[in-house]
Amino acid sequence: MSVLITGGTGYIGSITCVKLLAAGENIVVVDNLCNSEYSVVDRIKTISGKEFPFYKVDVRDKAELKRIFIKHDIEACIHFAGLKAVSESIGVPLEYYDNNIGGTIKLLEVMKEAYVKKFVFSSSATVYGSNKPPFSEDMPIGMETTNPYGTTKLFIEKILRDLSISDPEWGIALLRYFNPLGADESGLLGDDPNGIPTNLMPYIQRVAVNKLPQLSIFGNDYPTKDGTCIRDYIHVSDLARGHLNAIERIRRTSGIDVWNLGTGIGYSVLDIVNTFIEVNNVDIPYVFAPRRDGDVAVSYCNSSKAERDLHFKTEKTPDDMCRDSFRFIKNLKSGDI
Ligand code: NAD
Ligand code: WQD
Repeated sequence: MSVLITGGTGYIGSITCVKLLAAGENIVVVDNLCNSEYSVVDRIKTISGKEFPFYKVDVRDKAELKRIFIKHDIEACIHFAGLKAVSESIGVPLEYYDNNIGGTIKLLEVMKEAYVKKFVFSSSATVYGSNKPPFSEDMPIGMETTNPYGTTKLFIEKILRDLSISDPEWGIALLRYFNPLGADESGLLGDDPNGIPTNLMPYIQRVAVNKLPQLSIFGNDYPTKDGTCIRDYIHVSDLARGHLNAIERIRRTSGIDVWNLGTGIGYSVLDIVNTFIEVNNVDIPYVFAPRRDGDVAVSYCNSSKAERDLHFKTEKTPDDMCRDSFRFIKNLKSGDI
């Protein structure tokens, strides 16, 4: 039996593959490589010392997906595949709705036909909209997303709830990620998006290796301890491990449930920048810039439900996140990976 990982060569997916393989799981990986590259497959194999099938397939291609379900004994799916750039989604909403929502529906249709009904979905803290932190899973979420990307996550959660009502045999875990940072401890897998990064750590990484001159910190007049935004940064290795716990849970249960994956602790942008400078002994020139549209001042979660139900507790600190991110970007820059 294997777990199908869609988007498995992406940032979070690749590190989750490593965790699953280390735990003795069999995996089948699907990715269309629109935001990742084939070399990641080899890097996962190097780290884990294990083999697995990889298919360069778009999840909207039902015929190819069906072939994969016929060829392999798939037991469950972790669905990472999707487009994730908030600002890009505002310019090309149809691409986001087609890829994220359309892709998820096609995948679910194929799973249903194959009688595979265990599903883990990558949702996002963005669905909490203007709720007041700490965000808990029982808070109402509605139409308050500020961009099409966030709306795709909200709609997919709703689609999955409707699917669960229609057929209670499905076992579905909605995982709402907070802000993943860091890289695999090997230094071989991490976050290096195409183009100029919009997320904080990829931008800091490029300043650290002199690929960008300086960081702009968006806003220093928020009602927070140092005026910069607060986020719940979670090490990507901890986040990846959370998927193992979720798979174990839905193997034993049916129905749908939702869990926050975060640390429950908020750090400011300046905390992260200063930590990166200290632990890596590297300069990160920065300036304060105007607030970025759509940013909330404070976002962090109540992490107790994941701790209670999934026995999930984060282990890593911002020091680890900053150290691992720097190791990864240095490896990339030197051409070692
Ligand atoms: P990523 O872009 O690194 O990985 C996504 C992968 O999916 C990429 O390898 C891409 O090539 C692939 N992909 C995209 N569309 C596809 C399609 N139609 N068919 C097949 N493959 C496709 O992103 P990530 O940071 O690893 O995020 C993984 C998931 O987690 C996404 O769904 C994202 O929305 C969600 N998420 C990410 C964050 C974050 O901050 N990184 C936070 C919350 C939720
Ligand atoms: C973090 C903080 C910025 C870049 C986004 C998505 C969310 C989820 C995670 C997918 C903010 C500040 C950033 C920079 C800065 N993704 N910043 N200078 O916005 O919390 O969340 O990624 O689901 O849906 O919205 O993350 O990394 O972009 O920003 O000052 O160059 O860093 O203003 O306060 P965000 P981020």
